[in-house]
Amino acid sequence: VSLQPYNTFGIVARAHALVRVRQPDDLLAVAELLAAQRRQIALSPRQRVAPELEPLVLGGGSNIVLTGDVRKLVLKIEIPGRRLVSEDEHGYLIEAGAGEKWHDFVAWTLEQGWPGLENLALIPGTVGAAPVQNIGAYGVELQDRFHSLDAIDLWTGQPLRLNASQCAFGYRDSVFKHHPPHLPDVAGRDSPSSPTLLAAGMGLAGRAVITRVRFWLPKPWKPVLGYADLERQMQTSGIHQPDARQIFDWVVEVRQQKLPNPQEIGNAGSFFKNPTVSPEQCDDIIAREPRIVHYPMPDGSIKLAAGWLIDACGWKGKSMGQAGVYPRQALVLVNLGKGEHSATGGEVMTLAKAIQTSVYERYGIRLEPEPVVV
Ligand code: EPU
Repeated sequence: VSLQPYNTFGIVARAHALVRVRQPDDLLAVAELLAAQRRQIALSPRQRVAPELEPLVLGGGSNIVLTGDVRKLVLKIEIPGRRLVSEDEHGYLIEAGAGEKWHDFVAWTLEQGWPGLENLALIPGTVGAAPVQNIGAYGVELQDRFHSLDAIDLWTGQPLRLNASQCAFGYRDSVFKHHPPHLPDVAGRDSPSSPTLLAAGMGLAGRAVITRVRFWLPKPWKPVLGYADLERQMQTSGIHQPDARQIFDWVVEVRQQKLPNPQEIGNAGSFFKNPTVSPEQCDDIIAREPRIVHYPMPDGSIKLAAGWLIDACGWKGKSMGQAGVYPRQALVLVNLGKGEHSATGGEVMTLAKAIQTSVYERYGIRLEPEPVVV
């Protein structure tokens, strides 16, 4: 199966098997298949299942970099559905299937008169992928509006319900981005039951598959406007008390100006996380680069704008092979080719490594990739 249509970078890669998941029960079937395969392969008890049976969960494919053909069982999540679960004087509880398109879901909540997700407009990808990297933009992170989610544990076939603390959200991070220590053996040992593994804070990548996500949108609605790009929109428009719909429109406008549309130019959003440094390290850098963009964090550390660092190293608009640095936002790597002339995963990673090296040599800062590299 070609994976090119299923990753927004548009990288050419193939998978040896792809399963379309349209309902949570499909995942129970996958879990049974995996268990049966484990029993069938007459391995010695110490051996692990073959890598081909390790699942790779794909939502909209907007946060993934494929570096070659995928020898894994690709699960394309297409579970539909969106509904208001309940409403009271404190807020709205809303649920969506993991396969719903994120932006369409956000637009729908606003049309229904349930504000709260407007700052997260136009982020590519699906509802089910949103908690994986704790998507965030313009001062709001998914975790700020998250209630709980349902998932299926593919190792045990058990349904899971996770709250925010069990998801272990961090900056562009969650329990779903970390791999469990190892695959279960033939007998399914080393796969502790769900409550045990959650208590142990074990990673759930490739193990738990998100099926539904619930959001809590509190009343009264309060706008989140601190972000510089939104402040600018307020100044130029003269609108000082925007409603949620207005903020949604501004966010769409800002994103369209700065970020490439993956339907036109392949990309996976920000390619690196914004790094954090100690105040001392930051002072050092400011002494050399007074204009560096930095934000103090609640824990006392300082977050630096990775896009600024890459830009300052002269990378904007540069390319290696068919992989390039987007001219309007240096934090975004893009695919300059199309179809069979697309960038390869190798070209993208070569460019990424060159950027990492030059930022490290100049500032002593190690940039970490933001998408999942497979
Ligand atoms: N900057 C430059 N040159 C560049 C790019 C940025 O000087 O080439 C400067 C900007 O002028 C600005 C600062 O760096 O002062 C920050 O840039 P921007 O506001 O565009 O945001 P960002 O920190 O680069 C983050 C998120 C984006 C999110 C925006 C808005 C990460 C890794 N990225 O980008 O998220 O949309 O803030 O909230 O945290 C994503 O995760 O895929 C993503 C697009």
